[in-house]
Amino acid sequence: MSALTTAAPGAAVVDLDLAKLRRDPYPAYAELRRTAPLAWVPSIGRHLLTRYEDIVRAEKLPEVFSSREQGSLLLRTVGPNMLREDDPEHRRLRAAAEPPTRPRQVRDLWADAFERTAHELLDRIEGRGEADLIADFAEPLAAANLALVLGLRNASADDIADWSRAMMAGNGNYADDPDVWLRAEQATRAIEEAVAERAEAVRREPDGSVISSMVHAAEPVEVAEIQNNVKVIIGGGVNEPRDVFGVGAWALLQRPETLGKVLKDPASWKRVFEETARWISPIGMYPRQLTEDYEIAGVTLPAGSRVALVIASGNRDESVFERADEFDLDRPHRPHLAFGGGPHFCMGAWVARHEVSAIAWPLVFSRLKGLRLVADQDDRMDGWVFRGLTSLHVTWQAP
Ligand code: HEM
Repeated sequence: MSALTTAAPGAAVVDLDLAKLRRDPYPAYAELRRTAPLAWVPSIGRHLLTRYEDIVRAEKLPEVFSSREQGSLLLRTVGPNMLREDDPEHRRLRAAAEPPTRPRQVRDLWADAFERTAHELLDRIEGRGEADLIADFAEPLAAANLALVLGLRNASADDIADWSRAMMAGNGNYADDPDVWLRAEQATRAIEEAVAERAEAVRREPDGSVISSMVHAAEPVEVAEIQNNVKVIIGGGVNEPRDVFGVGAWALLQRPETLGKVLKDPASWKRVFEETARWISPIGMYPRQLTEDYEIAGVTLPAGSRVALVIASGNRDESVFERADEFDLDRPHRPHLAFGGGPHFCMGAWVARHEVSAIAWPLVFSRLKGLRLVADQDDRMDGWVFRGLTSLHVTWQAP
């Protein structure tokens, strides 16, 4: 089924300025939820679905809301992969890749190494008394942890972070910039080589990693499939943990009373994680394509229609989360949508939860004494497809 690139009959057409959306998408989303919960946005070339209940409904119908969107930039950048497949193809790849990311494996196989890396990064900056916690800590930590879980011993944290940036730029290359494609292709070739080398090694000696799990899967997986799935995981597994770390730390540093309570009750770091991911969702939206005609939010979408599930908006839906724009650790528990839902529910959720809420935040706040924000820095929130702080400048009393 080829994708329809026009509005469904009867859908509201709403012009959104992408530059404005990058700066702060939330006012536009609030307006859409109120007046046009399913709207065709020409600058995005998709219908945006913005209310919580509608997004949840779509997630529960993967046979109608297919992940196999035609002509997506992600497919062009990394090739076919589990994120853009439907079952049963998706299930085969996911079952092969997932075991090393389950809670028990995270605890037993990876947690100690995550913690060692976090200490090493803090050893490097502690004496300085100042840092950008995004560039100097959160990004290298997320990249090193990802290399470990994937099984890419032959790649450094810097390689992973560079490849991730190059592929993210490819996925967002709506302007068709040839330099962006060139960098993305260089990154994907380098990943292919690294994966092929490790796949060969773990065939003889399994090591518990994602690559190893895919090589030894019950249902066979080709090396090319492992390569593409590793690409998609590198493309998405660095920035989201980094961004949730940055936004959560920033929110707490601006709320000393809340921070004080959290420091007295370490179990509450888990709540900080879930509330941060709800409040500023690291992934703001993702695409689906209709396999048949389907009515949702008062509009019948024809087969082939392109829809974006705007989880960042669902996570601010006032009918589900009271005072949804506020960061509030005491709000009543309602499941947020930041990890998606249905068969594609984030495979790295437990990796991200552990590295950020059990390791990164507790270590940063205990080792960097008197941590505070630097007032005159331009630490901005940026993005709507992906959203987070571009930097997080802090100071503390150097020992
Ligand atoms: C706070 C951190 C993270 C957030 C908010 C997040 C969010 C998401 C979301 C929303 C999806 C669903 C996308 C869709 O349905 O189209 C997803 C899928 C996925 N995520 Fe994450 N992610 C995070 C961290 C990670 C990490 C660290 C890894 C790797 C270890 C990872 C690996 C994956 C994979 C492989 C999928 C595809 C699953 C499938 O298709 O079955 N994620 N993630």
